[in-house]
Amino acid sequence: MLNVPTHRSLLSSYYLVAFLALFAPAVVGQDINGQTFTHGLAIIDAPAPSSPGHAGSPLPIAVDVSGDGKIQAAASVPGSGLSTRFDALEIYLVSSQTNINMTVSDTPDFLTGESGSTVKHLNWPVPTCLTAGNYNLTFYETSHFNGQAVFTITPILVPILNSSPPGQCNSSVLNSLQSQPQPSNPLTQSPFAPNSSTPVSTSGTSGSGRITATGPSPALVFLSLFVSSVYFHRA
Ligand SMILES: *[C@@H]1O[C@H](CO)[C@@H](O)[C@H](O)[C@H]1NC(C)=O
Ligand SMILES: *[C@@H]1O[C@H](CO)[C@@H](O)[C@H](O)[C@H]1NC(C)=O
Ligand SMILES: *[C@@H]1O[C@H](CO)[C@@H](O)[C@H](O)[C@H]1NC(C)=O
Ligand SMILES: *[C@@H]1O[C@H](CO)[C@@H](O)[C@H](O)[C@H]1NC(C)=O
Repeated sequence: MLNVPTHRSLLSSYYLVAFLALFAPAVVGQDINGQTFTHGLAIIDAPAPSSPGHAGSPLPIAVDVSGDGKIQAAASVPGSGLSTRFDALEIYLVSSQTNINMTVSDTPDFLTGESGSTVKHLNWPVPTCLTAGNYNLTFYETSHFNGQAVFTITPILVPILNSSPPGQCNSSVLNSLQSQPQPSNPLTQSPFAPNSSTPVSTSGTSGSGRITATGPSPALVFLSLFVSSVYFHRA
C-alpha cells in the first residue's frame, strides 16, 4: 500500500485537480460591488450575496440580460437563434441546510416579460413556511456565447429570516434536492465583467461565432468525469 509508484500518484493528483477544477467555476460568479457577473450571460443585480430575505416579505430579484449593454435586446428572448443568446433562465431557492428545493421561476415569463427592459425583475414573496437558515437562490442558465453552448449554475447566498414557526410548504413548488455543486458547463469568466478580455460577437445566427470557446466543451466535461470516476473507483 505504501509502495505506490510515483507516476501513478502524480497522475492521480492530476486527475483529482482536473476533477475539482471542473466544478470550481460553477461555484462562484464574480461579485463586483454586489453585482454578480455569472460565468454565463446573466448579470445578477439583486439580491447581493449574503443580503437576507424575510419570510412573508418580497425578495427583489433583478437580472441584467443585456450583458451590461453589450448584447442586443432580442438575445434575451428564448428562440432568437442569435449566436450569443439566452435559451432559458430558471431560478430555485435551495438549501442543503434545511433540505429544500423550491421553484421561484421556471417558465420563460421572466425573460419574456418587461419587453424592452435590459433588466428583468421579480418580487418573489418569500413563503412563511420556510425554516430560517442559509439558502442559495440558484440561477440555472442555458445559453449560447458566440455559438458555444453554455450551462451555468450560479448560487447566491441568501440567509432567510423567519420569526414565525415554519409550516408545511405547498408541495406544488417543491422539487427533489440534489447535492451541490451540480455539474455544469460554464464559461471561464463573465464576458461582461469590467476586466474581461473576451470579445462578444453580437450578431449572426447560431454557430457563426468566430471567437474561441472559453469554457470546457461537453465532450471534455464528459471525458474528465469519466477519467475521474475511473480514478475514484480504483483509489
Ligand atoms: C450553496 O451552494 C454552494 C455551491 O454549490 C454549496 O457548497 C453550499 O452547500 C450551498 N448552500 C446551501 C445552504 O445549500
Ligand atoms: C399551491 O400552489 C398552487 C399553484 O400556485 C395553487 O394553485 C394551490 O392553490 C396551492 N395550494 C395550497 C394548498 O395553497
Ligand atoms: C432543484 O429543482 C429543479 C427542478 O426539478 C432542478 O432542475 C434543480 O437541479 C434542483 N436543484 C437542486 C440543487 O436540487
Ligand atoms: C481590473 O483591473 C485593474 C488593474 O489591473 C484592477 O485594479 C481592478 O481591481 C480590476 N477590477 C476588477 C473588477 O477585477
